[in-house]
Amino acid sequence: MDKLFIFDTTLRDGEQVPGCQLNTREKIEVAKLLEKLGVDIIEAGFPVSSPGDFNSVIEISKAVTEPTICALTRAVKRDIDVAADALRYARRKRIHTGIGVSPQHIYDKLRSTPEKVIADATDAVTYAKRYVEDVEFYAEDAGRADPVYLARIVEAVIGAGATVVNIPDTTGYCLPSEYGDMIKYLRENVSNIDRAIISTHCHNDLGMATANTVSAVLNGARQAEVTINGVGERAGNTALEEVVMTLRCHRELGIDTSINTRLITKASHLVSSLMNMPVQPNKAIVGRNAFAHSSGIHQDGVLKQRETYEIIDPKDVGINASLIALTARSGRAALGHRLELLGHKLRRSELDDIYKKFLDLADKKKEVHDYDLLYLVGDTVRLKNQSISLKFMQVTTGTLVPTATIVLKFGDHERMATSTGNGPVDAAVSAIKSLINEKVTLTEFLMQAMTRGCNDVGRVHVQVMCGNRVAHGFAAHTDTTRASVEAFLDALRILKVTEKREE
Ligand code: KIV
Ligand code: ZN
Repeated sequence: MDKLFIFDTTLRDGEQVPGCQLNTREKIEVAKLLEKLGVDIIEAGFPVSSPGDFNSVIEISKAVTEPTICALTRAVKRDIDVAADALRYARRKRIHTGIGVSPQHIYDKLRSTPEKVIADATDAVTYAKRYVEDVEFYAEDAGRADPVYLARIVEAVIGAGATVVNIPDTTGYCLPSEYGDMIKYLRENVSNIDRAIISTHCHNDLGMATANTVSAVLNGARQAEVTINGVGERAGNTALEEVVMTLRCHRELGIDTSINTRLITKASHLVSSLMNMPVQPNKAIVGRNAFAHSSGIHQDGVLKQRETYEIIDPKDVGINASLIALTARSGRAALGHRLELLGHKLRRSELDDIYKKFLDLADKKKEVHDYDLLYLVGDTVRLKNQSISLKFMQVTTGTLVPTATIVLKFGDHERMATSTGNGPVDAAVSAIKSLINEKVTLTEFLMQAMTRGCNDVGRVHVQVMCGNRVAHGFAAHTDTTRASVEAFLDALRILKVTEKREE
């Protein structure tokens, strides 16, 4: 197998998303997981851009030893000096310098000329070589550049010592065939191309970042610049998980990465929660529905043979099992399977009977959970032990510190807690958390009005994490704080959390 180097830029390009900035401690947490994941290069930041970025590159360099640590610069001496300084503790280090090469960049942004840009590019590479051996050059907006000019500048920077040449489709403009052809053209027309690795760096403005990256790899690129969950400015960057799993699924291509795919889901959850950026449910590989089957025909097929509707074994990306979501479209096979997992092996006539009740319930609810099924089969003993419900809540808010008092019913007895928070929902959620036995985190919160008007019903969807497990809760109420609390409890019931034992 040929190796494709994985260059992760979650902490640099990915982190440029407005509102998703991470502090140094959070960046170190991500970097350590990226190391375990097996990425080859971590782009840790753009040191000259802010003292925070500078410090993060220093701390990541100390905390992580296996991957190469890379720092971004413009083709400016001071940027390069600062980057080299920030990389001083890195065991393996790389400076990533570059300049715009499309007409839009050369004339409009830089107000320069093609010849001057080539001179600035080679000067920057030569200067960076004084500090580090490993210098990557990026030809910004290469996707819209003239290929002949691109080949000239690439040849010049390799001549100056660049070890990697990055060909970014900065605006996500290229078609997969076009981007692949550009890489092929460079391989065929740059005389010293065998002295450097060609890198892809794609943006997803037209939804083609992964397709473009794979096309470039098929045409000879051997480094892919990616982010976890595809986070990044505008429509984002190429998603690490998509490229890695495409190569794993298509072994016939003869190209692979060093990624430990079993940590992909963990990395996705970490980045999503630290950046406060929910992953779209239908996102490839890491979306919550990526391994969920809801139609009866699909559920029946997957239960007979997983491969019928799945090209990836969920365990390979760190998910325990495919999810058979029980909805009004589920068939008897899925219902029977779920009940069996809950310890109820039913005869055909019993299953028929429960199935009718199940359909009635599923028509009213979006998704039927385990505790609903236990109720349907009359498993009152386990229901008593498992169910958590809201008995009482009172929340004060306004100019005072928001405070919530919550009484929860655990089976047949009640427990009360009072907590404050930065808002009414936060206060109520902390009160609930103090009553349960597991550490849970509210990672996604979405509130929508069902119709227009302030007296209407508010719908709340939440995502709650408990260790590696994720659950989604839903509730609707005219009181939006009540809806939030009920949605949180809905998720806790799915996670089967129980009452905290008294110390
Ligand atoms: O998209 C881009 O061109 C970049 C470069 C700075 C590498 O992020
Ligand atoms: Zn970029």
